[in-house]
Amino acid sequence: MEYDVKDLNLAGEGRLRIEWAERNMPVLRFIKERFAREKVLSGMRISACLHITTETANLALTLKAGGAEIALCASNPLSTQDDVAACLVQDYQIPVFARKGEDNKTYYEHIHAVLDRKPNITMDDGADLVSTIHAKRRELIEDIIGGTEETTTGVIRLRAMAQDGALKYPILAVNDAQTKYMFDNRYGTGQSTLDGIIRSTNILIAGLNFVVCGYGWCGRGVAMRARGIGANVIVTEVDSLRALEATMDGFRVMPIAEAAEVGDIFVTLTGDKNVIRAEHFRKMKDGTIVCNSGHFNVEVDIPSLEKMATSHRKVRPFVEEYTLSNKKRINLLGEGRLINLVAAEGHPAAVMDMSFANQALSAEYLKKKGSSLEVKVHRVPEEIDRTVAELKLHTMGIKIDKLTPEQKKYLSSWSEGT
Ligand code: ADE
Repeated sequence: MEYDVKDLNLAGEGRLRIEWAERNMPVLRFIKERFAREKVLSGMRISACLHITTETANLALTLKAGGAEIALCASNPLSTQDDVAACLVQDYQIPVFARKGEDNKTYYEHIHAVLDRKPNITMDDGADLVSTIHAKRRELIEDIIGGTEETTTGVIRLRAMAQDGALKYPILAVNDAQTKYMFDNRYGTGQSTLDGIIRSTNILIAGLNFVVCGYGWCGRGVAMRARGIGANVIVTEVDSLRALEATMDGFRVMPIAEAAEVGDIFVTLTGDKNVIRAEHFRKMKDGTIVCNSGHFNVEVDIPSLEKMATSHRKVRPFVEEYTLSNKKRINLLGEGRLINLVAAEGHPAAVMDMSFANQALSAEYLKKKGSSLEVKVHRVPEEIDRTVAELKLHTMGIKIDKLTPEQKKYLSSWSEGT
């Protein structure tokens, strides 16, 4: 079996951590048991480009239990957990191509390595498989039934492809399932981003001006958690509705150019590029911390920061200090890559449980539908979303009410008023 991981001797450690995560993934466990009985994915080759974490390992084992042949590569050069990669190869014979800290060339070689397995289903986190297939490996398209996409940034890219008529196979936007974005993006990113900042810097956040760039679901989560730990949270936005929401949620809202002068910590979560640029670095206070928790490392304009800096040194793991000509120091965390996965362990298992339940059920749906799905970006079917919510509540021991027949009737009638 071909694979490329850092060190197979890490497998034991990886196994313990994968099992630890599994305890908090009861929905996925339930799906795995059914998949193992019914072999719903038999005959399917699935190539997945996901962050190689303990949670992803549990998804891979679920797909394998369902009879799929799965191959994995990393969806970010710095997010791989090398012990997990080792365990999947050594203990479960799953081909993994991922090493934490791989360079860009290796990153794309790994993408090609999983594509060499001629997938029937692609699973993306950021759309790098789909874009590589469409740009360089078009011969693979005829064998592909469809793909899934895990993250907001990837869905944006795929919708742009569909809009241009460039997309050649259907995609299920797992990110857009309510049981994904309402929990993973908000509570997952919220907690793990704070975790990544704290692990890499060990700073006290209470009392600091904490600037959240972007008030989508991820930004909302980070702002909420930063407030919870005592920060003065400032939000920057380009969307008037979201800016209004942030204001009424109790945050200060201002343009990034103003926030640059007062912020102590900046986190970008926008899905767009160059949100923090040269003109902003120039205004920042000495010692400012800048990081990103959006998918790609383009949200902070790092090339400009590098050009402006008169010197640069690594001061702690995942902390690079840039000194500007005005003698101010700016600390960039995790090379501008997803700080929650680079310096911490990504979203906790309990939220990935729902995201990856959606992934597993979407793969089953793609197989069932065969090639009958229209070529476009689809929402995850409502019944999958609902099943995941019901299972999650059930595993949490939470019961809810049912409408009485009288209430049902009331809701479907227009004649009853005051
Ligand atoms: N994205 C964010 N957190 C993650 C995790 N723990 N595993 C896989 N993908 C993630």
